[in-house]
Amino acid sequence: MTLSDYLAQADALGADCRALLDGLDPATRLDVAKGQLNACKDERLAALQDALRSLPAADRRPAGVAFNTLKQAIQAALDAFSARQAAASTGGAFDGTMPARSSWRGAVHPVSLVLDEISDIFRELGFTVALGPEAETEWYNFGALNFPPDHPAMELHDTLYLGEDTLLRTHTSPVQVRTMQRHAPPIRVLAPGQVYRRDFFDATHAPAFMQLEGLAVDEGISFVDLKATLAEFARRFYGATRRVRFGPSYFPFVEPGAQMDVEVDLGDGRGLRWVEILGCGMVHPNVLEAAGLDSERYTGWAFGMGPARIAMSRYGITDIRMLYDSDVRFLEQFAR
Ligand code: PHE
Repeated sequence: MTLSDYLAQADALGADCRALLDGLDPATRLDVAKGQLNACKDERLAALQDALRSLPAADRRPAGVAFNTLKQAIQAALDAFSARQAAASTGGAFDGTMPARSSWRGAVHPVSLVLDEISDIFRELGFTVALGPEAETEWYNFGALNFPPDHPAMELHDTLYLGEDTLLRTHTSPVQVRTMQRHAPPIRVLAPGQVYRRDFFDATHAPAFMQLEGLAVDEGISFVDLKATLAEFARRFYGATRRVRFGPSYFPFVEPGAQMDVEVDLGDGRGLRWVEILGCGMVHPNVLEAAGLDSERYTGWAFGMGPARIAMSRYGITDIRMLYDSDVRFLEQFAR
C-alpha cells in the first residue's frame, strides 16, 4: 500500500462514519448507534492499524498522524450524534423563561367550608369533636332519645333499615347518648357526620346529608346558656348585624324544644326573610337517664343543624342539589 492509498482509505473511513452517524434519527438509542458505527469501522480501522507496519519507514509517521486524526474524527462524529440526541429529547429548544404550567388546585367544598368555620367558632367556645357510627341501632337512634315506640320517624318509609335492629342514622343525635355514656360531665362536644333519610332528592331535601350536632351537659346549665351560645355563634358566623330569633319546636329528645331562625337574603329577589337553621332544646331528662346520667344533678342543651342548609343561607344557593352535582363551574366560585 502506498502512502496516498493509506491516506485516501483513512479519509474514506472517516467520511463513512460521519455520514452514518449524521444520517441516524436522533431518537436512536446510543448503544444501537454505537453498534452500527462499530460494524462500519472496526474491521477497516484494524486493517489500517495493521497496514502502518507494512508501510515504508519514511511513510509511517504521516500515516500514523492520519490514523490518529481519523480516530479523533470518529469520536467527534459520535459526540455530535449524542448532542443531537440530547437536544431532541428536551424538545430541541428549551426555553427556561417560559412560565410553568399551573398545577391542578383543588378547593374545599362549600359544605366543608361552612363545617370548618362553624367548628372553629365552637372550638373557641370550648367544644371538642365527637364521632359516632353511621350504621346505628334503633335504640341509639330512637329509643334512648325518647322517641315513643310508634313514632312516625321510625316507619320504613322514613328511615333506611339495614336489618332487624340496624339502620342508617337519621340524625347525629345518637352521638349525644354515646358521648354521655363514655364521658362524665362537664361535656361540650360537636358531632359532625353524614345522616340518611328516605327522602326525595329535590331542591330542599337530600337523602344523605351532613349534620352538625352540639351538646353541653353540666350541673346548673340552663336555657340561657343555650340561647347565649347559639346567638353568639350566629353573630360570629353571619355578622353582628344579622337578626336571629328563637321559636318553639318539638323534638322528643329535648324539653323545651326550640328552633333558631336567621334573617337572610337568598338572592332570589324576595329580600330578607326568616330561615330556620337549627333545632335545639334542653336535653330531655329521659335522655340523660338513658345514657346513665343523674337527671336530678345534671342538665344540658343540644342543637342540630345541617351545614348544607347553612351554606345555602349564607351564599344564597336556592337548590340543595347544586351542592351534590360536583359541577366545577359552580364549585369554583367558592374556591379561595
Ligand atoms: N336531631 C334533630 C334533627 O335531626 C335536630 C336536633 C338536635 C334538635 C338536637 C334538637 C336538639 O332534626
